[in-house]
Amino acid sequence: MNEYLKFAAETAREAGEVLRRDFDRPKKISYKGEVDIVTESDKRSEAIIVAKIRDRFPDHAIIAEEGGGTSAAASGAKYRWHIDPLDGTTNFAHGYPCFAVSIGLSEDGEPIAGVVFNPVSNEFFSAARGEGAYLNEQRIHVSSVDKLATSLVATGFPTHQRKRSANMNYYWEFTLRTHGVRRDGSAALDLCSVACGRFDAYWEFRLNSWDTAAGVLLVREAGGAVTAIDGGPYHLGGPSLIASNGLIHDEMKEVSEIAERAAPL
Ligand code: IPD
Ligand code: CA
Ligand code: CA
Repeated sequence: MNEYLKFAAETAREAGEVLRRDFDRPKKISYKGEVDIVTESDKRSEAIIVAKIRDRFPDHAIIAEEGGGTSAAASGAKYRWHIDPLDGTTNFAHGYPCFAVSIGLSEDGEPIAGVVFNPVSNEFFSAARGEGAYLNEQRIHVSSVDKLATSLVATGFPTHQRKRSANMNYYWEFTLRTHGVRRDGSAALDLCSVACGRFDAYWEFRLNSWDTAAGVLLVREAGGAVTAIDGGPYHLGGPSLIASNGLIHDEMKEVSEIAERAAPL
């Protein structure tokens, strides 16, 4: 296992243990926005991860959701860690066991190592560029479903500026053209579900690099495709994303165009 992946794996396990322990305890919730929840556990997990990266890789930049990362001065850094210390905070706060620690590393903007750990199910997803994607010790691959009509897909909705999101139109169009659309509340785990073939595709708008850096690499290393919703290249933190098994990617784009015409973003 390469040095970065090994480090990310150890770090995610440590942070994940804290989340697992906190999950059974009363939660202390505060609000970053109308429905954007943060708990003490988000902050505890982030503090562990950030401290370990600073200690081990002091030259690397850190982009961390709860603000514990490095300052803009490090924006020229070749290596950047993208940290979601608790992806799926709303699930966590409500006792729904679908959440994860997500840690991704990019080199010159491209993801090269990533881990996503759900400490309740004990599912540990990992990937390094060119070395494949894994769920625990098992190599994983995207599904072989080749028609949107027989696919299971997923999406998510933003917690900020909710009324400005046209995603409900996309949800509607995809619901009518697939076996179903799931909304599981953790972008990192949604991407992992594409990587291991549970979902055939996933789309979402306005995600941050900490939501996707690890999961995007998982999908690619599992043989899938990731683009912006118009089919152009996906850049970390970009405004839209489609991740799929590759086989239904064109159909995902076509339906997106229909949804967008119905209600332009
Ligand atoms: C959220 C989750 C959710 C997605 C939202 C994200 P958080 O992250 O990934 O599935 O739909 O867009 O903000 O706030 O739980 O880390
Ligand atoms: Ca997130
Ligand atoms: Ca989070």
